[in-house]
Amino acid sequence: MNKIIRKQQFSEKVFCLEVEAPLIARSCRPGNFIIVRVDNHSERVPYTIAKSDPVKGTLTMVIQEVGRSSTKLCQLNEGDEIVDIVGPLGTPSHIENYGTIICAGGGIGIAAILPILTALKQAGNRVISVLAGRTKELVIMVDDVKKYSDEVIIMTDDGSYGEKGVITVGVEKVIQREHVDKVLAIGPPIMMKFTSLLAKKYGIPNDVSLNTIMVDGTGMCGACRLTIGGKTRFVCIDGPEFDGDLVDWDEMFKRMGTFKDIETSPNPSEGG
Ligand code: FES
Repeated sequence: MNKIIRKQQFSEKVFCLEVEAPLIARSCRPGNFIIVRVDNHSERVPYTIAKSDPVKGTLTMVIQEVGRSSTKLCQLNEGDEIVDIVGPLGTPSHIENYGTIICAGGGIGIAAILPILTALKQAGNRVISVLAGRTKELVIMVDDVKKYSDEVIIMTDDGSYGEKGVITVGVEKVIQREHVDKVLAIGPPIMMKFTSLLAKKYGIPNDVSLNTIMVDGTGMCGACRLTIGGKTRFVCIDGPEFDGDLVDWDEMFKRMGTFKDIETSPNPSEGG
């Protein structure tokens, strides 16, 4: 059991939970993720690790209510317990000094990109973070990102924070202004697709962190399989980060949609 020691509400449907998970907190690396089962009747859902504190033995995760399991998780309070957390899972991010790197985070993808941009900054990169959300409330963890970025550009669809426009507008502005060695994008699949295509247009290597449906998270069930560069890959063990130029985005969107009806179904017998 993993006790929730702190709960914070970021916006109407986005919550931040700090939970006890000492073994994972000690061994996780940037880019790793966890699979959470809220209670014995819930399905296993992957979440990214926004922060880990090896001394306190805690993990911080940011959750958006999108289906039954995430809603259940968001309804828990400080002192409540989560039945199990498995991790750290996945292949950690490759961290090196690329030079100048744009870290593009959309919505709760900002929580996922935070530990990676922190490590990239510590490796000597010039980190330019471009954060985006539909409105101000959905652009989260800005102060944390600022600590490890040389520059932070904020974009919102409605102009309520930073500049008005989508994330690619902010990313392109940087690319046209100065030499960029790499782009990393984490957020909704559509945002990652267009950020990746933009980077490709300028010949810049780019990585994305895919958030497919997962079941076991250990390469056994095949739920997360995708075609990357013409080869079948399992996001849970080969990823979640991949070269954006190699992702079959049409297949990604199709597979994301496969489980949508089950996850939002009000009938527990239909899944989740
Ligand atoms: Fe089962 Fe990846 S989640 S193979």
